[in-house]
Amino acid sequence: MNASLMAAEALADIAGGTALSRVGVPEIDGDHQVMIDLIEQVDRAADRRGEAAAIDTILAALVDYTEYHFSREERMLEVVGFPHAAEHKECHDRLRHRIELYVVRCGAGQADGLRAVAHFAKRGLVEHVRKEDMRYQSWCAAHPNIRQALAGAESELFVELPPSIF
Ligand SMILES: [Fe+2]
Ligand SMILES: [Fe+2]
Repeated sequence: MNASLMAAEALADIAGGTALSRVGVPEIDGDHQVMIDLIEQVDRAADRRGEAAAIDTILAALVDYTEYHFSREERMLEVVGFPHAAEHKECHDRLRHRIELYVVRCGAGQADGLRAVAHFAKRGLVEHVRKEDMRYQSWCAAHPNIRQALAGAESELFVELPPSIF
């Protein structure tokens, strides 16, 4: 990892004191931050149990944005020919499945359930970025087709986020 990436990583501090590693592709780093922001909204929603519809909205946004991010990252890895793209997709599939299970089982209206969703999703995301996404950092960050790979995925997959509600 070069010095500027290390510095960026050191500066990237998310709430809760966990450093979120930077993969060096701004759109992807941006997605990771959006996901952390959504997770933190879920955590804050645990204290606002009366707002069931708003809680449902933010849980749905977390699931939808996770799907959007994973799909665009998978397309990006395919387009740039990352040799471990299939293996990476398998890791996403496991996380997708587990996040959806948590959301369904722990659903809106239960503070402990919401905190469990937030805790699992945050830990799962931070670990995935650190252990798996960082494996493609050197392959992708300077790849000549990276802009084209992201533009194609963006136009096909874009999802709109609700405004911040918690
Ligand atoms: Fe990933
Ligand atoms: Fe990612």
